[in-house]
Amino acid sequence: MRKIMIAIDGYSSCGKSTLANALAKKLDYLYVDTGAMYRAVTLYCLQNNLIKEGKLQIRLLKESMDNIKIEFRNISGKERSATFLNKQNVENEIRKMEVSNEVSKISVIKFVREKMVRLQQQMGSQKGVVMEGRDIGTIVFPDAELKLFMTANIKTRVKRRYREMVANGIGVTLEEVKKNVISRDYKDTHRKESPLIQAKDAIVINNTLLSQDEQLDIAVKLAKERMAIT
Ligand code: DC
Repeated sequence: MRKIMIAIDGYSSCGKSTLANALAKKLDYLYVDTGAMYRAVTLYCLQNNLIKEGKLQIRLLKESMDNIKIEFRNISGKERSATFLNKQNVENEIRKMEVSNEVSKISVIKFVREKMVRLQQQMGSQKGVVMEGRDIGTIVFPDAELKLFMTANIKTRVKRRYREMVANGIGVTLEEVKKNVISRDYKDTHRKESPLIQAKDAIVINNTLLSQDEQLDIAVKLAKERMAIT
């Protein structure tokens, strides 16, 4: 069977990462979480005082772009690969509220997106990749053989994100998570640079009422169909 590119886009906390990771494992494909890349750039800004009193120093960030090296590495005993920023494992830090609250400031910037998209295209150049984000099926890999667009109702999404954060030891309230999810939805869909939109040829998976296994079954079936086409 041929190797294909699988693009998974959708709103935050829709279960994209869970499905993308499980699908990649099942197919023995590489999994790429592009949201983690925007989060890592945000963490760099916070660590290097490029965000002061909530204001981003765009010129300084532009000058620093060559100093930001992002990679994914497999960690033994871990289900998912971890995000590394300049050789430091930042997987836990990039999931914190401080980063979630600032990431939309970074993901709207054209020069940041251009660099991330270039990296993502390199990672996917050999196919055999499941890549998830907001613009994968529209901008990064518009020719992806399979495009999925995930949705779920807001209540379910907030609950899932809250549980995930608490399970990772992150102190947060349900209300804070809700505010952040709603605000990022708005920013993701209204920004000028690569807003979140459903690709015309994407297949929608609304997983409000689906279990993880049910979603995976749907995605594997679709992937195998596309892999069989020569
Ligand atoms: O998937 P996530 O919630 O970890 O993504 C973090 C932020 O990065 C999110 O608010 C939107 C942005 N993002 C983006 O603009 N483009 C992508 N391909 C992936 C994420």
